[in-house]
Amino acid sequence: MISIAIDGPAGAGKSTVAKAVSKKLSYIYVDTGALYRVIGLYVVRNEFTDEESIKKKLNEIKLSLRFINGEQKVFLFDEDVSDKIRTPEISMSASKVSAFLSVRKFLLNLQRDLAKKNNIIMDGRDIGTVILPDAQVKIFLTASLEERSKRRYRELIEKNCNVTYEEVLNDIIKRDYNDSNRPVAPLKPATDAVILDTSNYNFKESVDLVLNLIKDKLGKLDNDERK
Ligand code: DC
Repeated sequence: MISIAIDGPAGAGKSTVAKAVSKKLSYIYVDTGALYRVIGLYVVRNEFTDEESIKKKLNEIKLSLRFINGEQKVFLFDEDVSDKIRTPEISMSASKVSAFLSVRKFLLNLQRDLAKKNNIIMDGRDIGTVILPDAQVKIFLTASLEERSKRRYRELIEKNCNVTYEEVLNDIIKRDYNDSNRPVAPLKPATDAVILDTSNYNFKESVDLVLNLIKDKLGKLDNDERK
């Protein structure tokens, strides 16, 4: 099986780029942020605040990923929450719960099992460093803070979310800080990841860059195997 890990900060365009690349390669695409977001939603709905109360409830949570027409959908119990997890409130809650070791452990095997059975592109924060350390291709996709905030702002406005650019910028600053400074599985490039800064590239250029990089890496692996 081939695994491609795409990590990077919030708003770097990981999911849009990874989704497009997975279609071209006919690989399954898994957005791992959605898993943390479902837990974030559960925590907000139940008004939990501390790790102990979340930890106690983890075994009761039924969280599943389903692929409908190739699109990833996330379910909390039997409810499709794929859209409900895309609000600024849930982004922040996901960032908070993702710092808890119990939550990360709970989601670890689910992510690894998906990669055992499928050729996969997985995006997140710790895919190349923790979840799939043996991934054949590792990419750290990033962009400047301003560019990432602009992209996220545009996305939210298109979804009729009532936010200002300043709010989005501040949320991203906070999430960058939380995600990079937590003791467990912090956001950082794997030592063998290729770092791609897409600040000056549009969507199509970013997809082409990533695709070429993957083809290059996988081509080299094929050649090595033939030697
Ligand atoms: O990729 P995203 O913005 O949907 O992720 C939401 C939050 O989940 C993010 O702030 C950090 C956390 N996350 C994580 O800790 N590890 C991952 N592999 C994916 C997301």
